[in-house]
Amino acid sequence: MGKKVIGLLGSPLTEGNTAKLLERALQGARDAGCETETIAVASMSFEACMEMMFCREHETCIMDDEMQPMYGKFKDMDSLILATPVMTMGIPGKLKSFMDRFQVFFNAKYVRQQPFITKEQKKLRRGLFICISGMKIPDVFAGAKKTAEAFFDIIDCRYWDELLINDMDTIRDVSAHPGLLDAAYKKGFALGELLKKS
Ligand SMILES: Cc1cc2nc3c(=O)[nH]c(=O)nc-3n(C[C@H](O)[C@H](O)[C@H](O)COP(=O)(O)O)c2cc1C
Repeated sequence: MGKKVIGLLGSPLTEGNTAKLLERALQGARDAGCETETIAVASMSFEACMEMMFCREHETCIMDDEMQPMYGKFKDMDSLILATPVMTMGIPGKLKSFMDRFQVFFNAKYVRQQPFITKEQKKLRRGLFICISGMKIPDVFAGAKKTAEAFFDIIDCRYWDELLINDMDTIRDVSAHPGLLDAAYKKGFALGELLKKS
């Protein structure tokens, strides 16, 4: 069985530029022998964290919604490709809410000091961050990147590599720029190759 790579899509558009780049990266991972699964946050039904603190003492969240199966998937996976557009100099709100619900992992790791991810898994697990912005301005990725770094840390995926593409409002359709899609493919393939060797 190939190594498992999850592609987490933060864009509300499941066929937009972020989605196209993510799919190319996942194709690269598949071509390197991995199994992939795409999770489109926009298609999911769940609520934002309500700070009920159940997960301080329990290994899951008390809120019974579509986040529940995510905890198992994110424990089992071997790596994550997180793809998102910049929104309001950060990430889309629904993706942020998805990440906040991983307080379940935060409490296990930092409060109870019983992380879900074993040392062996941690050595393997890598995070690839794909992020695009409409504008070409200084520090346009800074907020999104900080959040991605924090999320990768909480779920014990080493921040391994990134593909940051600005000026998308000028570029418009990434399909007309094979070089950009190819860059995503190569990073996905490199990730898959690394996982295969590990
Ligand atoms: C609500 C909203 C907020 C945005 N905020 C920013 C921003 O702060 N900075 C920026 O450079 N682009 C911003 N954008 C532009 C998107 O990052 C850009 O259009 C991106 O290509 C969208 O990718 P997608 O079509 O795959 O979702 C914003 C777009 C939306 C819809």
